[in-house]
Amino acid sequence: MAFDEMKFQEVISEFSATTEMLRETAKNFQKDLQIGLKDPKSSSMRMLKSYVGLPTGNEKGEFLALDFGGTNVRVIRYSLEGEGHSKIIRHVAEPLIVAGKYDYVGKGSTAEQMFDFLAKLIDDVIEGDHETKFYLGHTFSFPSEQDDLNNAKLIIWTKEFATAGVEGKVVNDLLLEALKRRGIENVVPVAVINDTVAVLLSAAYKHSDVYTGSIYATGHNTCYIEESIHDPKGVGKGGMILNLECGNFMNLNPNRFDMAFDRKSEKPGEQRFEKMVSGRYMCELFGMALAELFEEENKHYDDLTAVDMSMIISDVSEDLRKVAEIVKNKIGQTAELEDLKKIQELAAAIVIRSARLVTASYVGIIWQRANGGEIQPQHVAVDGSVYEKMPLVQENIKKALEELLGKDAEKVDTILDNGGSGLGAAIAAAMAV
Ligand code: GLC
Repeated sequence: MAFDEMKFQEVISEFSATTEMLRETAKNFQKDLQIGLKDPKSSSMRMLKSYVGLPTGNEKGEFLALDFGGTNVRVIRYSLEGEGHSKIIRHVAEPLIVAGKYDYVGKGSTAEQMFDFLAKLIDDVIEGDHETKFYLGHTFSFPSEQDDLNNAKLIIWTKEFATAGVEGKVVNDLLLEALKRRGIENVVPVAVINDTVAVLLSAAYKHSDVYTGSIYATGHNTCYIEESIHDPKGVGKGGMILNLECGNFMNLNPNRFDMAFDRKSEKPGEQRFEKMVSGRYMCELFGMALAELFEEENKHYDDLTAVDMSMIISDVSEDLRKVAEIVKNKIGQTAELEDLKKIQELAAAIVIRSARLVTASYVGIIWQRANGGEIQPQHVAVDGSVYEKMPLVQENIKKALEELLGKDAEKVDTILDNGGSGLGAAIAAAMAV
């Protein structure tokens, strides 16, 4: 069976984002920022205060970092050496789900199980030393309400996490209880930050001219330093970093796949932007569009991942062997070369739309910071697997920056801050003590 050509063209055009649409999105994003600065409740973005500004780059000492927020948890023991330098002393990383063995994020999992698992990883990194005092920075990458740098209450799970007993709780209280159950009283959590904030701290520790930090991975979100906010309970320089939680940005043009996926997601109506752009969701949209092309509308291709999309896009073999293999193994279909090409084109269209929309949000922030005046030279720091590894993403960000900023695009680039969500936690701990 070959795909219906008209249907295919229609699906592709639904995943396109023209320059005009991007400009509109960037404007709406800036507008929502302005509304949120006056009253966060009126904006679709939560604009959460982090109680931390920028580091000096000279923070020093040994700190633990707990990086929690995606499919893997990492605990790292860092030595911060100043002048933007740091060393990893010890490092452990474990997935939160191992099929057939355990699952700490699905329905049916509990806070106690999840935090006991985190305490065990911390114990591994301190090698069972229950004497030496360790200060710990915690990157907790979910929308959390804070009234100082250390107390963060989870507002709502995102990224399809569903562990019972964490929403509404102060996460470091849960962590402290778990550490206590394990007999660890020498690890002192002193800071909780979002992963976007961690990326900004980490990049600003090493470079000047960084004001925006972003995660482009399983989830998507961005923060920036807002110069007008100073709070006596905050630490750091230059104002306060606001975690936008812009995954929840709403003023967009969702297509019918976006809408249909949202309806069947864990939290319908929430995280509409994230559901259009991040790795956790792009493969869902891809799967839904493919099901339509294969005329299997009610089928859900559970096994399809963003990594498959990346492999599909990178296949340069003449017979698209890799594409054929993925289509066979993950969705149980065989397709002719013409259709394999279309499948590749569809994956690319979804990724390109994502990169373009994410860029529009960066431009909204850049415009807001420029406040009608000249755009400052700056780097937007980004970490995450989609940014780092997905083909087409970085070049399409660059292209979209040029479309939206014209000549000013010369002043702006995105830089990879690999591992920033770990290092940033250590820096936040150093800033806190
Ligand atoms: C989700 C979370 C947000 C986090 C992002 C990237 O959007 O709500 O807090 O920064 O994922 O991990």
